[in-house]
Amino acid sequence: MQALVLVGGKGTRLRPLTTEIPKPILTLVDRPFLSYMIEWLGSHGVDEVVLACGFLPDQLEEVLGDGEPGGPSVRYLVEPEPLGTGGAIRFALPELEERFFALNGDVLTDLDLSALWDSHLDRGARASLGLYPVEDPTGYGLVDLADDGRVLDFHEKPEPGHAGAGLINAGTYVLEKSAFDGVPEGREVSIEREIFPGLVGNGLYGVRLDGYWVDIGTPDRYLDASWDIIEGRVTTEVETDPSGVHVDPGATISGEATIGPRAVVASGCTIGPGAEVTGSVLLDGCEIGKDAVVSNSILSAGVNVAAGANVSDRVLGKQESVNA
Ligand code: GTP
Repeated sequence: MQALVLVGGKGTRLRPLTTEIPKPILTLVDRPFLSYMIEWLGSHGVDEVVLACGFLPDQLEEVLGDGEPGGPSVRYLVEPEPLGTGGAIRFALPELEERFFALNGDVLTDLDLSALWDSHLDRGARASLGLYPVEDPTGYGLVDLADDGRVLDFHEKPEPGHAGAGLINAGTYVLEKSAFDGVPEGREVSIEREIFPGLVGNGLYGVRLDGYWVDIGTPDRYLDASWDIIEGRVTTEVETDPSGVHVDPGATISGEATIGPRAVVASGCTIGPGAEVTGSVLLDGCEIGKDAVVSNSILSAGVNVAAGANVSDRVLGKQESVNA
């Protein structure tokens, strides 16, 4: 089975974390984000992952290579220009089998992909959308289903407080190549706004999938996903810890520093005496001075926080310095 993963976006909402590093290989706890996704795809029988790249493709290839031994193989397709979610899949079609998974490359999830594939086959669908139930759909597109699973309608992203619980598009699809009949080549096309609405009544189905699902595309959700992994709310290979703390053995932490509740401290970080790090992620080689306080923040590699400084609710770019 093949999976096409869309990883061509610029990840603007996670800047400055993603200014120089593409979102799919940003470290999440202790490994590049996409490693979780590739592992999940492999666990559902995918043996080839095709990455639809645009932004900084060489870095992706450097980090992920051909895939891990025993896992799916990984290869790379680079769009000449951003073609949008539908245009990117259209561009990749010559490389794909008749039926394939297509996924947004920024979700951390353990949803049952095999159930989506089986339902697609049972119904003879052209496109099947994995749908995730949420209490508050603010910022997501809602999908209406008939009792037999046919998609009836899409609703644009509701404003805060304007909609109740519903099913959202989880960015997880099984597609037949025929779903792209008539889609022009070489121009920007949105699968959510153009292709799927055009398939309503013509082989488009949705399947509710329960489990864990989060789009890691904003700083708050990136932090939440980190705690969910460490505290074991999503199935991954990372060692769990109920206090949400993950410290790399290559970090140097003063015996008088306080780490957590909830913290990721990557390799090469140095934390001085009296410093406090809570609710925060420190990527490689950050230096936190004596008595400094870091809370609810994400620090890119090599950030330096001076002795006595206070960093709260911040997202800091590579090698930034914070003075007291
Ligand atoms: P923001 O800029 O923060 O909105 O993030 P993003 O660029 O990742 O955009 P968004 O979250 O809307 O994209 C959803 C998924 O589709 C992500 O995995 C993107 O990498 C991917 N994506 C978006 N546009 C394109 C595109 O033009 N080409 C490809 N190959 N992937 C895309």
